[in-house]
Amino acid sequence: MIELDNIHKSFGQTQVLKGITATIERGDFITISGASGAGKSTLLHLIAGLDSCSSGQVRFEGKPLDTLSKKERNLWRNERVGLVFQFHNLLPELSALDNTMVPRWIGKSKENSSERAEALLEQLGVAHRSSHYPNQMSGGEQQRVAIARALVNEPAILLADEPTGNLDSANAAAVHEILKTLNEEHGQTIVVVTHNKELAGLGKKRWVMQDGKLLDQ
Ligand SMILES: Nc1ncnc2c1ncn2[C@@H]1O[C@H](COP(=O)(O)OP(=O)(O)O)[C@@H](O)[C@H]1O
Ligand SMILES: [Mg+2]
Repeated sequence: MIELDNIHKSFGQTQVLKGITATIERGDFITISGASGAGKSTLLHLIAGLDSCSSGQVRFEGKPLDTLSKKERNLWRNERVGLVFQFHNLLPELSALDNTMVPRWIGKSKENSSERAEALLEQLGVAHRSSHYPNQMSGGEQQRVAIARALVNEPAILLADEPTGNLDSANAAAVHEILKTLNEEHGQTIVVVTHNKELAGLGKKRWVMQDGKLLDQ
């Protein structure tokens, strides 16, 4: 589904990614671990088309992302990619339900938005928080709402960068379980960057990055 073809990325003189070649298949659950500064977030950003490669290509369903204009890439991402970060980035003035629906408002799939959002909040165990605002929810609940938002457009791939890095162990375990279920029972393709050994261990494919390269698996 996604091909990473000899990706290099530099910021100024600093080479951060030094030739990454790999494939992400439909249904994969890939965890990416490695020391801080190894280039994990940079790689995830390139897969999401949030930044472009210095050389090499990211291809999504055969199409190089760098052939899309910025606007096309933003639309593509909103429709096809779910993103979850360490900090949930929920909008403080919107309820959990409205936060979950934001990608529907931006994109073209507007029908049945509230039903879909409610079903996701239910699936993630936070339906009872639908009308609450982010500051009325715990960190774990906020992160589950962020996951619901990431899934609302039925993305081809869910990309998460340290999604449990800011959670206590009980909430982290709950989010790990959610990711596992999404993959196993719903076939959701997932790529997750994590320091957490438990989460890294859940990956069906475990990538390890070191100094801008993928180690042999
Ligand atoms: N936008 C940027 N500008 C300059 N340097 C950056 C930028 N983003 C990341 N880097 C550098 O790239 C290296 C890898 O960063 P990152 O991908 O965030 O690593 P990781 O997620 O594995 O901890 C770090 O040395 C970081 O300082
Ligand atoms: Mg990082």
